[in-house]
Amino acid sequence: MTFQQFFSKLKPVFQKFRRSRFIALWVAGLVLTLLVVVPAFSQPTVTLSFLIGAPERPTWEPIIKDFEATHPGIRLNFVEGPNATNAVEDLYTSSFLLGSSPYDLVYMDIVWVPKFAAAGWLTDLSDKVADTDLADFLEGDVAGGRYQGGLYRMPVRSDAGMLYYRKDLLDAAGFKPPETFTELMQISQALQKSGAVTWGYVWQGRQYEGAAAMFVEVLAGSGGFWIDPQTKAVGLDRPESVQAVKFLLDTINTGVSPRGVVTYQEEETRRLFQSGTVAFLRNWPYAWPLANAEDSSIRGKIAIKPMVHAVGAESAACQGGWGWGIAKTTRHPKEAWEAVQYLTSIQTQRKVTLSTGYLPSRRSLYNDPEIVRKYNFFPAMLNVIDNAALRPPIAQYAQASDILQRYLSSALTGQMTPERAMQAAANETRRLLGTA
Ligand code: GLC
Repeated sequence: MTFQQFFSKLKPVFQKFRRSRFIALWVAGLVLTLLVVVPAFSQPTVTLSFLIGAPERPTWEPIIKDFEATHPGIRLNFVEGPNATNAVEDLYTSSFLLGSSPYDLVYMDIVWVPKFAAAGWLTDLSDKVADTDLADFLEGDVAGGRYQGGLYRMPVRSDAGMLYYRKDLLDAAGFKPPETFTELMQISQALQKSGAVTWGYVWQGRQYEGAAAMFVEVLAGSGGFWIDPQTKAVGLDRPESVQAVKFLLDTINTGVSPRGVVTYQEEETRRLFQSGTVAFLRNWPYAWPLANAEDSSIRGKIAIKPMVHAVGAESAACQGGWGWGIAKTTRHPKEAWEAVQYLTSIQTQRKVTLSTGYLPSRRSLYNDPEIVRKYNFFPAMLNVIDNAALRPPIAQYAQASDILQRYLSSALTGQMTPERAMQAAANETRRLLGTA
């Protein structure tokens, strides 16, 4: 038998073998696809939605990206809301009232917690969090997440109102930073008179939650109070409260503050201060890196200190801050909790703080070397936050704040005298609380 004959005999055997090898490979491929590839692609991806004021998108976008990269089965859907905290609160509120909220996570201002918790819109997280997990968080921030024994919000950023001032101008004119309302007025007027600035002081006077936060500082700094959460006593018609309104009104009437201040939110005041024409600004710490950015005309010329107060009273910072909660109606509580843990972790807070200047809610970060290098006032902020004044943590807070905002605005725009406005605000607040 020749070679050729031998091979032609073997050919069918080879062909059969090749065919069966092909079939075997095909079957193996099919099995692999069924077992590995299909499940991977068909694994349902859970989407968690939440609403946040649009200006915070750049803060959260990189964090969301990192989260999704390390949690392939979960997507985070950022829905952009309006800027003012109370406007975002209203949107969450109507979505919960409708009963089919599209939101799984709730990014919450400290002042919303009692209302949302009392309404039953939030998941109680207390059985998920051990006390040891909370040990690194600031007490005030944690307390702000509690309601009647439950824990409804994990803090991610703290906040405290501060006084910003033009250190360069005060130094050049030989002024020490002001401690009292009177000193702030005097320095302002002197710097205005010398032409160093156009305006002395800018603050948040628009009718919105930011004005309530600002007013808490002037009120406590005048020795007054708004609502005692324990006794439900209302202090708005006491002489200290009227005095606090008069101070704000004076800043306008003397031209220390522009008339437009009654329409300003945080950003309007920051921009004006940053333009270099103002001596003093009341704002939160987020304004620091912006005012010191490369394109800022006041870069390196400013300092920050606790708010001014009346003689005989103490300085007060309003306690603000934000955190994450879980909507009671979410269909994905397990994934939501994974996200909340990630979003409030020390790594996340560190990144957020470094990119924004927001105060973290974790105590250890206040002495983190990289953070302190960037924000040298942070270690001193711990003391300020630990002594910050809360807005009353009561379930009816949103209505109480609305009452205060309305009457404060009437007084500041000259529609009512401070006395009448505060009397009316106090009466309406007592009716709200059932203590009239
Ligand atoms: C800041 C504070 C918040 C406050 C708000 C008012 O975002 O963190 O607590 O309610 O300002 O504008």
